[in-house]
Amino acid sequence: MTDALPQQTQLTSQKKPDPCSFVIFGATGDLTHRLVIPSLYNLEAAGLLPDKFCVVGVARNGMSNDDLRDSLMQGLRQFATRPVDDAIAKRLLECVTCIEADPKDAASFDAMRSQIEKLEAARKTGGNRLFYLATPPNAFAPIARELGRSGLLKEEEGGPWHRLVVEKPFGTDLASAKALNAELLKIVDEHQIYRIDHYLGKETVQNILVLRFANGMFEPIWNRNHIDHVQITVDEKLGVGHRGSFYDATGALRDMVPNHLFQLLSLVAMEPPARFDAQAVRSEKAEVLAAIQSQNEEEALRNSVRGQYLGGTIEGVEIPDYRKTEDVRPDSTTETYVALKLAIDNWRWAGVPFYLRTGKALGIKRTEVAIKFKQAPFAMFMNTPVDVLAENYLMIGVEPTEGISLQFNTKVPGPAIRISGVEMKFRYKDYFKAEPSTGYETLIYDCMIGDNILFQRADSVEAGWQAVQPFLDAWKKAGAKGLEFYKAGSEGAPGADELLKRDGRHWRKLG
Ligand code: BG6
Repeated sequence: MTDALPQQTQLTSQKKPDPCSFVIFGATGDLTHRLVIPSLYNLEAAGLLPDKFCVVGVARNGMSNDDLRDSLMQGLRQFATRPVDDAIAKRLLECVTCIEADPKDAASFDAMRSQIEKLEAARKTGGNRLFYLATPPNAFAPIARELGRSGLLKEEEGGPWHRLVVEKPFGTDLASAKALNAELLKIVDEHQIYRIDHYLGKETVQNILVLRFANGMFEPIWNRNHIDHVQITVDEKLGVGHRGSFYDATGALRDMVPNHLFQLLSLVAMEPPARFDAQAVRSEKAEVLAAIQSQNEEEALRNSVRGQYLGGTIEGVEIPDYRKTEDVRPDSTTETYVALKLAIDNWRWAGVPFYLRTGKALGIKRTEVAIKFKQAPFAMFMNTPVDVLAENYLMIGVEPTEGISLQFNTKVPGPAIRISGVEMKFRYKDYFKAEPSTGYETLIYDCMIGDNILFQRADSVEAGWQAVQPFLDAWKKAGAKGLEFYKAGSEGAPGADELLKRDGRHWRKLG
C-alpha cells in the first residue's frame, strides 16, 4: 500500500543535537519518572541524544547519584514505552548526577553553578544548557529568578546556548499568565523559552499543518464560503482520581481549553504562514487566537455550558460524585465539563462558529476535530426518492483513531436513484509504523536542537487566556447558577446539545 505513496516529506532533520547539559528541576517527581526519562531513553535508543551529554537531576533534598539513578531506573521499568534494554538504560543513567539546590537558598544555586561548570568541563558539553522545570507551577518563577541571578541562564553573543523549558499550566488566568511571562522575560529572551503543550507532541496534531498546507486542494475551500462550522471535542473517560486538589482549583476550562483545545483550534484556523519556521508559524497562531471574539458577560453565559459529574460506572469501575472525590470541596462548583461557542473575527471565518467541548468521566475517550462543510443545494434531487443528503464532514482524529476521514454522499447501486453517506478513511497505522512513544520525544529533541515551532510563545499564551477570561469571570459571578450535572459514563452536560440545537446544528454522531 505504501509503495504507491509519494515520498514522505521530512519535516525535521534527524541530526544529533549539540553537546549539552540537561538539567531537570523536580528530578524526583512523577513527570521526570513518567515522561522525561522514558523520552530521553527513547531518544538514546534512536541515536538522537548528543554524543557529549550529561543529565543533572536537581532535588531540594539531595540524594546520592546512585539513589537517583536507581529511582529513575525503576521509573523506566514502569513507564518505558518498550522493553528496557539494559545497555541503553545504563548509557543514559551513567550520565545522571544529582545536585541539591533550593530556590529559597541562593547559596545552593551558586554552588550548583560551579558543580555544573565542572561537569561541563569533564563531559565537554561546551557550556550549552537546558533547564527543564518539571515542577509544580508555583516553583517556575522562583527557580527562573535564581537561575538568572546566579548567571546560569545568561547567553553571550556567539557563546553557548541556555534554554528554559516550562511545563503547563502557564498561569491560571490572563493576569497570572501575563505576570509569569513578564517575570521570565526579565530573565531570559523569548527565544530561550520553551513552553510545553504536550498536544503539540502528538503526530496527528502536527499533521493538521501538513494536511492544510502541503495539499493544494484544501486551502481553496477552507473558509466561510464552504465551511459551515467546526467542532473540537476532547472527551475523557477518566474522572479526577487523585488530582482533586489541583483540579478543584482549576476546572475543565482552565485545564484544557486555553492550551490543548486552542492548539487544535489555532492549527485549523490560522492563515498560511509564509515559511515553515517557528517565527512565521507562531505568529499566525497567535494572530488567530487574538481574533477570537471577545464576549460580554451575557454572551459568555449564553455561549457556554458547564457541567459537573455525578457518580456512575465506566467500564465496570465505580466513579464517585465529583464532589465526593478526595480533596474536592463538598459544595464545589468547579466544572468537569465545558462546551463553548466561539467566533473568530476575521475575513476567513466571519460567521463560522467554532464549537468546543471537553470533559472528564464521559462514556468515551476521543479527541477529534470535525469540519462540517455547507450542504449542497438539494434542488436537483427534488423529484427523486432522495429526501435527505448525508452531511459532509472532514474529520481529523487524534485519539483513539489517528487519522483523517472524509464523509460524502454516494449513489447506492441499483436502478433507482438513492443516496447514502459513506466515509473515505486514512489511518496512520495503515501507512506508517511508528515506534511506541511517550509523545514527549519530539518536544525534548526540538528543545535540544533549538527549534521552538512546537512551543507556545508569550503572545499566544496570553491571547488564549484573553479568549477564555470572559467565561471565567461570568461563571465566577454566577456561582452555582447555571452549573449542570451529568452522570459519569454519559455524554456530558445536556446543555451542550442545546448550544448547537438553537443554531439548527448538532454534534457529529459517532461513526
Ligand atoms: C493534561 C490535563 O494537560 O491533559 C489532564 O491536565 C488531561 O487533566 C490531559 O487528562 C489530557 O491529555 P491527553 O493527551 O490524554 O488528551
